[in-house]
Amino acid sequence: MKTGLTTDISFAGEAEVAQAARMLGSGGLVAFPTETVYGLGADATNADAIARLYQAKGRPVFNPLISHVADLAAAESIGRFDARARSLAGAFWPGPLTLVLPRTENCAVAALATAGLDTIAIRMPSHPVARAILTRFDKPVVAPSANISGHVSPTTAAHVQSDLEGRIDMIIDGGAVDVGIESTIVGCFEEPILLRPGGLPREAIERVLGRALAQPQADAESDGARPLAPGMLASHYAPRTRVRLEAADIARGEALLAFGQPFRGAEQAMAIMNLSERGDLNEAAANLFGYLRALDARMAKTIAVMPIPNHGLGEAINDRLRRAAVGRSDRE
Ligand code: TXA
Ligand code: MG
Repeated sequence: MKTGLTTDISFAGEAEVAQAARMLGSGGLVAFPTETVYGLGADATNADAIARLYQAKGRPVFNPLISHVADLAAAESIGRFDARARSLAGAFWPGPLTLVLPRTENCAVAALATAGLDTIAIRMPSHPVARAILTRFDKPVVAPSANISGHVSPTTAAHVQSDLEGRIDMIIDGGAVDVGIESTIVGCFEEPILLRPGGLPREAIERVLGRALAQPQADAESDGARPLAPGMLASHYAPRTRVRLEAADIARGEALLAFGQPFRGAEQAMAIMNLSERGDLNEAAANLFGYLRALDARMAKTIAVMPIPNHGLGEAINDRLRRAAVGRSDRE
């Protein structure tokens, strides 16, 4: 980890992709765009690099990482696919879906990356820059969202810089991301389970599976000690400012995160940002984290958030907003 130095930001070109791959190879930490959010990459087979990654993010080591791969062959060398996992990969990879599978016996990913579990989270991203780096590096890359642990995930290179400047080796700037919310995580166990709602709507996955996805037990989620998807701690994705959900009015000194047509009196807010005036959930997901960061900077008393429908990407948006609304005092 670099300290006290500035982190290079480079626009994604061929030379930068090659440099990123070299840096990963020498144990460096490289932030790069994926279609969901910016990731902070490290060589998944290098335990020292992974230890530095946990440290740079301030991430608890019981929270395992997603291994990113360029192709299915690479995925199959680290995770054991059954028919169901294969059909999900076939339908949605590359794209915003992470599969949790049993580790293969000769899995090259360091145990530290999977927090000692016998399962592994695998994702094949579709972003051309992420793909170029993974292809060039030719080994799995662990990449959590490139933010300080517990904070709002980054959707631009500038967000990464504001969280991790001087703590990582390189930031590759590929512009604003497309989806704006992290991948959906499905556990491919006896019964397929939705471990984290995300950038691929549940409905699309259930159509391919031909059945409903199970839901983790509520208590498995809220207990920080042994959560099922350990990153799903109650408080996460959190701005500094208090967040109030289901707002239908506005109090003095509050900022408003709107969706669709604002209610009467909304103009009293000290700042307003609208996730999607036309009520489009995909547009709202793409704007969510950037707008939370922008409103956080306004030093409002509270960020009031209008209700958001819970279908499609709305399920993931509401999940992140609920975690953002958990009080700071409860946080690590
Ligand atoms: O879209 C994404 O998934 C982004 C981009 C950069 O790819 N990455 C991301 O990583 O969101 P991160 O580390 O912020 O979230 C990974 C989640 C955590 O909730 C972690 O607990 C869960 O995946 N996870 C990792 N391995 C797991 C496993 N073996 N079993 C259950 N959950 C796992
Ligand atoms: Mg994260």
